[in-house]
Amino acid sequence: MRVDLLAGATYNPAVMPSPVPTILVFDSGLGGLTVFAEVLKARPDARYVYAADDAGFPYGRLSEAVLAERVVIVMERLIGLHDPDIVVVACNTASTIVLPHLRERFSIPFIGTVPAIKPAAQTTQTGYISVLATPGTVARDYTRDLIETYAAGCKVNLVGSRRLAGFAEAELAGHPVSDEDLLDELRPCFVEDAGGRTDVVALSCTHYPLLLPRFQALAPWPVTWIDPAPAIARRVTQLIGHPVPGHEADENEAVALFTSGAGISIALRGALQAKGLPVVAVEDMPLLVG
Ligand code: DGL
Repeated sequence: MRVDLLAGATYNPAVMPSPVPTILVFDSGLGGLTVFAEVLKARPDARYVYAADDAGFPYGRLSEAVLAERVVIVMERLIGLHDPDIVVVACNTASTIVLPHLRERFSIPFIGTVPAIKPAAQTTQTGYISVLATPGTVARDYTRDLIETYAAGCKVNLVGSRRLAGFAEAELAGHPVSDEDLLDELRPCFVEDAGGRTDVVALSCTHYPLLLPRFQALAPWPVTWIDPAPAIARRVTQLIGHPVPGHEADENEAVALFTSGAGISIALRGALQAKGLPVVAVEDMPLLVG
């Protein structure tokens, strides 16, 4: 755990930034890499730990209670090991349930990733929005509240896919699924009736932008795809500031850490290296319930 530098002061990284902050980016698997890529662009100088709780993957199938407990346990270990200055929970399925638990338990700042319903509502011309997410995220009260608050005037179509996160993992590991399988998951996003048709799809699972070029190629008609990653990166710099000239971490030390590591292949190591994560490590944390 972090110790405040001024006795009795609340740690506030906006006031007292580390010249080279440690940023922990967390997801159930590889989806958070889409967020990591944007955060890395904003803070190329930072020290990075990308943590994939692959022992718990997919989070979309876990109950809210199991998921909240799991993420707090894993976070405890990760924070103890790496002492991050800030944590990005690059997972909608986790963020929509676990952020209050994390903020209560730890004093460091957490940035979450939640369905981009507000930007979708601001972007649509037809008023027909689809929210493509995991079954967990579409079932959340948090998601329903976002719709009521920001998209009450829109026709919001919630699409919970059981298979897409796995398809995205397979894609990155060099085993792309067929167009037919992908289209089966995507088709429910495309709604058309006498009133209009879908013109915006909010990618509300961080895995899905990994498949975006294929979504674009397979879409029955063109739509705007909303990926929240750039907004999350902006939030990181709002909280910890921009790079300080003359200070930077060794990029060869950026680590991808897995809680199981069962799926680590040569192809995946290559993909991680290409994305700026040359070191791969396993911190064994089996999922005991769920
Ligand atoms: N990447 C995660 C999200 O943004 C979820 C994938 C899963 O573990 O089900 O929701």
